[in-house]
Amino acid sequence: MEPEVLSSILRGGTILPGDKRMTAAPRDPSWDPDQYDRFEAERDRAALDLLVRLPPDLEPRTVHDLGCGTGRHAALLKRRWPGAEVRGLDRDPAMLDACRSRPEGVIWEQGDVADWSPDRPVDLIFANASLHWAPDHAALFPRLARRLSRGGVLAVQMPIQAGTRHHQVVAEVAADGPWAGRLARLARVPRPLLTAEAYHDLLSPTCGEVDLWSTTYLHEIHGPDPVLEWLKGAGLRPHLAALADDPRLTRDFLSRLGAALSDAFPARAGGAALLPFPRLFLVARRG
Ligand SMILES: C[S@@+](CC[C@H](N)C(=O)[O-])C[C@H]1O[C@@H](n2cnc3c(N)ncnc32)[C@H](O)[C@@H]1O
Repeated sequence: MEPEVLSSILRGGTILPGDKRMTAAPRDPSWDPDQYDRFEAERDRAALDLLVRLPPDLEPRTVHDLGCGTGRHAALLKRRWPGAEVRGLDRDPAMLDACRSRPEGVIWEQGDVADWSPDRPVDLIFANASLHWAPDHAALFPRLARRLSRGGVLAVQMPIQAGTRHHQVVAEVAADGPWAGRLARLARVPRPLLTAEAYHDLLSPTCGEVDLWSTTYLHEIHGPDPVLEWLKGAGLRPHLAALADDPRLTRDFLSRLGAALSDAFPARAGGAALLPFPRLFLVARRG
């Protein structure tokens, strides 16, 4: 995306229909920046929908992108506010390597959101598609809110897995095959996502304004085994980590899962699959 386009969006510029612009964790899974960015336009869309909801009068001096991944949004935020100190935090070395090739002057840091402790109040905490990998949201979210300066903003987007068809298919295949023993542990990991009402009540004592909404995207995704390839970029990282030392088992698991996902998400007219993907958003401002 061109910097001028982003600046216009962040300043409240109009997004036209059909515009491409609109577009507790198990053991740490490692990330593959190339696989994650295969569906860059679709994954970016939620981040941009979050960015446009930032208060138009926000002029941050300090910005932290928590779980910054390949650094795209931290870089965009730095271009939008070049005078701000913008930091991107991630715990994955491969993701941070991808960040470091960016020219924008963001400060990249390796670390865990759970231990994140900025040395001064922060004007904007941005976390797109990352906090659902961190446990204990009942403690984490109030802690993040307390890190905000007065008037500071916490902006978060997280996928909602519960009840989705793709999540159900993954769980069924994971429980039925020679890999089941290794993957059973993943089914027992508590899902950190709380209800929208719970986030409201956790943030309200610190933040006077809490704007919450959810959207189900219907991503039209292309290529062979598109839903499997999508999930390999993020949601399947723990499964792939659990099977990593057995390439044959990994291959068999992916082959069975690919077939089950193709049945569940058959190619539509034109050949693409439609993947319904619900996401929860919140923008909270400290009073
Ligand atoms: C799905 S990616 C999203 C990346 C980026 N925010 C984006 O929207 O493109 C999730 C990222 O969160 C990072 N992550 C997950 N848990 C984390 C934690 N506890 N502390 C720091 N980073 C974490 C992962 O390493 C990964 O890069």
